[in-house]
Amino acid sequence: MRKVSRRELLRAGGVGAAAVVGGGLLGRVGRAEEHRHGAAAGQGTGHGEATAHGGMGTIGTVDHARNGFDPSEILYDWDLGEVSRRGDQTVREYRIVAIDKEVEIAPGVFFPAWTYNGSIPGPTLRATEGDRLRIEFVNGGAHPHTIHFHGLHSARMDGVPGIGAGDVMPGDSTVYEFDAFPFGCHLYHCHSAPLKRHIHKGLYGAFVIDPDPARHPDQADAARRRSYEGAREANVREMVMVMNGFDTTFDGENEVYAVNSIAFGYQVAPIRVGNDEDIRVYLVNLTEFDPINSFHLHGNFFDYYDTGTSLVPTVHTDTIMQCQAQRGILEFNFRGYEPGMHMFHAHQTEFVELGWMGFFDVVEGRP
Ligand code: CU
Ligand code: CU
Repeated sequence: MRKVSRRELLRAGGVGAAAVVGGGLLGRVGRAEEHRHGAAAGQGTGHGEATAHGGMGTIGTVDHARNGFDPSEILYDWDLGEVSRRGDQTVREYRIVAIDKEVEIAPGVFFPAWTYNGSIPGPTLRATEGDRLRIEFVNGGAHPHTIHFHGLHSARMDGVPGIGAGDVMPGDSTVYEFDAFPFGCHLYHCHSAPLKRHIHKGLYGAFVIDPDPARHPDQADAARRRSYEGAREANVREMVMVMNGFDTTFDGENEVYAVNSIAFGYQVAPIRVGNDEDIRVYLVNLTEFDPINSFHLHGNFFDYYDTGTSLVPTVHTDTIMQCQAQRGILEFNFRGYEPGMHMFHAHQTEFVELGWMGFFDVVEGRP
């Protein structure tokens, strides 16, 4: 019963979310009526309804401008920080502000989110192994928050309640400072209590540390190719995907799943890639409430670098799974392929039907 109602929620455009949002109810009720008429006309009312409707997806469009972020831009939006030098060390300074904000995660489904810098995921921080990182955190929200980074740092800089700066109260700020280690694909998230709530409200992001070729003389070429500049020299198309979910009814279960927050975002706007370029995806799982999430690519295989901490692939596959906070780097290409749409999605069908599905639009050459 509950699963059917979760699906109906999304397909009907957020009847459940209306209770949370209050405004704009009429449009959503209208869609719900339409939906019920469809069901009454014999299009199915049960578990198989999404397919009975002739495919998955949402009706209507999400207003990315009102959200203040667009999943098609989040893919490529790297925050390299403000760069300076201290002796022979590169210093990168970032500023992250916690902001309470209502986010439209599917057409007509509004989620009262807590965000870093107004987007979910928050900014994708990027640095090079050994850089000094200084992250100023300002709490502009109504609840205490922190930023807890995965990576190496002292206990004081861990961003957990009761240690170091601890909980940062509304209106307060702190600075987290540490050297960027180890290289790889990492993440950051709020660590205030209750942790589940603070994470799933949207306080998380990806944190990429590039290898420094000078520290890996035996693998200097691979390290260079993995770096921000090296990837651009070598025409590697790099993108960030954060797998996430939203509990719009606050029952401890997700009603909507996505990569980079918008249900079916990359079905509505497929990711254009060329059949003459290499693709690298930094994939992070920040789904709350479900023990695992997964990524499956159609008609192709990828090299997977678990946690991104190695320059040699861990596995060659078309499906990987991650528990929360697990992450890794996928590398693949479509060389020799004819143009066409290649689906990618979680390999949990329920997640797919609730939004976690998209396409690579493979075109000739290098778009
Ligand atoms: Cu928090
Ligand atoms: Cu599939």
